[in-house]
Amino acid sequence: MLLLVATFFMAFVLLLYMLSPLISPKPLALPGAHVVVTGGSSGIGKCIAIECYKQGAFITLVARNEDRLLQAKKEIEKHSINDKQVVLCISVDVSQDYSQVENVIKQAQEKLGPVDMLVNCAGMSISGKFEDVEVSTFERLMSINYLGSVYPSRAVITTMKERRVGRIVFLSSQAGQVGLFGFTAYSSSKFAIRGLAEALQMEVKPYNVYVTVAYPPDTDTPGFAEENKTKPLETRLISETTSICTPEQVAKQIVKDAIQGNFNSSIGSDGYMLSSLTCGMAPVTSITEGLQQVVTMGLFRMLSLLYLRSFDTIIRRCMVERTKYEITDKTA
Ligand SMILES: NC(=O)c1ccc[n+]([C@@H]2O[C@H](COP(=O)([O-])OP(=O)(O)OC[C@H]3O[C@@H](n4cnc5c(N)ncnc54)[C@H](OP(=O)(O)O)[C@@H]3O)[C@@H](O)[C@H]2O)c1
Repeated sequence: MLLLVATFFMAFVLLLYMLSPLISPKPLALPGAHVVVTGGSSGIGKCIAIECYKQGAFITLVARNEDRLLQAKKEIEKHSINDKQVVLCISVDVSQDYSQVENVIKQAQEKLGPVDMLVNCAGMSISGKFEDVEVSTFERLMSINYLGSVYPSRAVITTMKERRVGRIVFLSSQAGQVGLFGFTAYSSSKFAIRGLAEALQMEVKPYNVYVTVAYPPDTDTPGFAEENKTKPLETRLISETTSICTPEQVAKQIVKDAIQGNFNSSIGSDGYMLSSLTCGMAPVTSITEGLQQVVTMGLFRMLSLLYLRSFDTIIRRCMVERTKYEITDKTA
């Protein structure tokens, strides 16, 4: 009897695996496609541009600093696979004025055709204890990380829906899946991305447009080096409980997921665990993904409780050390 049940269960799982591709989106063909990458002059954005260029895409890089844009363009052009490919650079602040962003997207579309894939990579992180973070920093991070993703997406969505083709990629963060010490300003701006992406995906799916939210772990980029200069000790110690990725690794995974139209893009075992644990009502793009989430949820919740406990210990130890230093400072 037990054998019969096990066989039936295995057959059912196998059937789901076989049916899974039927509900998955048709992959986007990158050769000849127009890919716009905001924040494409540095770090993860630049590596995403290189990855897409290597697969035959035409690229528009968007960032503010013109010198860094030109430097990135030269680097990307080394990876061309045919002599028709173009890298266009546009200098604009994506977080300030919607009409400016709309204009530059129009210019890019006039030169390289309608946008097939938009990757919203422009962003930054500033950490600090809640009471130490300037109120203006909360506004700044919301502006660049959230509105800086809303504006370019808003500028491309109508054409994508009309053409019934498109991919929009948002860069959240693992700190957009779990709120961590020192990230009150950053985490909230990255959680906001998830809400935007889920709602947008529900609107655009009938038009064959797919949204991907990427949740990278700590990644070795100029932006990460800058962030580390002011990171509280607690945040640094918590970050060190997971390993650091290269921007190339992260970019490869994001481009792969965007091509497939996967809603979730995560990397490594921590990324897999966090994404399964925090899937909530997020869309799935294959039956197997949904099945894995159902099966693993309880186990991952138990693991997450252990993680949270170890973070509490780190924070308490830091408090004790700080108090010790304060006492020695006062008595010195
Ligand atoms: N590195 C990590 O550990 C990590 C982890 C998780 C998520 N992320 C996210 O991944 C994204 C890329 O991070 P990264 O570490 O690769 O950053 P990065 O090396 O600092 O690069 C940031 C890029 O965004 C551009 N940018 C910043 N503000 C802009 C604005 N207002 N308008 C237009 N462009 C702007 C920058 O160019 P200009 O300064 O010239 O404008 C640069 O090209 C960010 O959204 C970040 O939050 C990073």
